Amino acid sequence: MNIQRVEPVEKSIVESIIFLVKSNKDLTPLGLSREEIEYIKKEKKLKKDIIKLNRFSYRIYIAYVNVKGSLSKKLETIRGFGNTITRHVNKSEIEKINISVKAGDKNETLAFLEGMILGNYQFIKYKTGENRKENKLKTLCIDSDVLTDEDLSELQIVTKAVYHARDFVNEPDSFMTATQLSNEAKKLGSDSGAKVEVFTKRKIESLKMGGLLAVNRGSIDPPTFTIFIWKPENAINIRPYVFVGKGVVYDTGGLSLKPTGSMDTMKSDMAGAASVIGGLYAISKSNLPVYVIGLIPATDNRPDGNAYTPGDVVTMYDGSTVEVLNTDAEGRMILADALSYAKQYDPELVIDIATLTGAASRAIGPQAMVGMKVNSDSDFKKLCESGDRVHERIVEFPMWEEYGEMIKSEIADIKNIGGVDAGAITAAKFLEHFIDYPYIHLDIAGPSFLSKVAGYRPFGGTGVGVRLFYDFIKSKVSN
Ligand code: BES
Ligand code: ZN
Ligand code: ZN
Repeated sequence: MNIQRVEPVEKSIVESIIFLVKSNKDLTPLGLSREEIEYIKKEKKLKKDIIKLNRFSYRIYIAYVNVKGSLSKKLETIRGFGNTITRHVNKSEIEKINISVKAGDKNETLAFLEGMILGNYQFIKYKTGENRKENKLKTLCIDSDVLTDEDLSELQIVTKAVYHARDFVNEPDSFMTATQLSNEAKKLGSDSGAKVEVFTKRKIESLKMGGLLAVNRGSIDPPTFTIFIWKPENAINIRPYVFVGKGVVYDTGGLSLKPTGSMDTMKSDMAGAASVIGGLYAISKSNLPVYVIGLIPATDNRPDGNAYTPGDVVTMYDGSTVEVLNTDAEGRMILADALSYAKQYDPELVIDIATLTGAASRAIGPQAMVGMKVNSDSDFKKLCESGDRVHERIVEFPMWEEYGEMIKSEIADIKNIGGVDAGAITAAKFLEHFIDYPYIHLDIAGPSFLSKVAGYRPFGGTGVGVRLFYDFIKSKVSN
């Protein structure tokens, strides 16, 4: 979507326009007829927040952004308004729309525009002929005193990063192999000025990343390990924030094969990788003065002749041994190597993000991600605040010692599954074995992929995590 700044246009309205208002008083200077104003007031009384006027060759939309409630609730409702108008606008086949901000502060206005843009996303690469119905809306022309040019360019960058993350998740695995995923990271890195290095299979073998190599053994495609580095000269930190994303480009379960109904959305098992690439792209493209690193271990998980087996023992990158009792618990195998690799950076904080367990998804569904923390109380709190601001909410699960008992192995240092209970937590306890720094684990199995549209979140990949990471790192600069 194209965002432009324009001069006020309402003096003689001749094309479609959206007015953001807070009260009926804001209607007076808009150049509307008395009948139109009466109609708007009547509709507003009926509790409508978005009112449409049809002037035949063009439309006028009034959006009342006087929402009550907490800041995060308010902003999310306003994003919803933006999305609703985008849908109307596309139905009316409008390509370009003016947005005139009469009321609403910076955050409210940005939330409205964000909802409009995120709601306009489509994944139609594989639609052909008549099935390919592209949204008409392409350009937003904004007249607002509360937004600077920097605000608009930031909005453009962040929403573009979300679009990329959604695309990566929606691409089927025949296209989005581990190598392709690393190529996508390279493309975005060269666009933003970040450095992207990709380890291929030989290098991964020479580093003895046993977890990543074990999961890859059943695949005919090679694994990759991608390092995305943004280290600006004016960085406010010396020790980096490291983000680790699970990049399982397809999860069949391996020899512990998933049943059909559970497998068909497993192209989305690299959603964590997508949010790391998208988030770091947004951070670097916006030139945020913060040193951040992304690590993306990637492979598919398949049951071919040489596949790793339930019962196998794997020696990991850090030298510790893992008894594999379920090859479908593969995410933690590849993440563990990346978490060990992160130690060399002496990080300020490491956050991993992964579609790690069905248990997390069953516990809270698509409404939030599950978060757990180790020695990172204040950053965890800040991350949750970012989550509320951008409506990518985090629900904390405990990391009590007792859960660690459940992954003790008879024959190796640890085993890769716990029991039937507390699956999201035992997965995090497994990962904790590989860290020695402040750490946050995010399980996005619930909110990363939707089976039906939910407001500005589309069917399929949601891009969850991108706006969370951007807001969190940005908050480091303003503090
Ligand atoms: N990728 C899955 C988790 C998942 C499930 C993500 C549903 C999104 C939606 C993960 O690799 C997995 O299979 N986990 C197992 C772990 C179990 C074997 C301990 C699970 O959750 O069943
Ligand atoms: Zn799995
Ligand atoms: Zn998986």
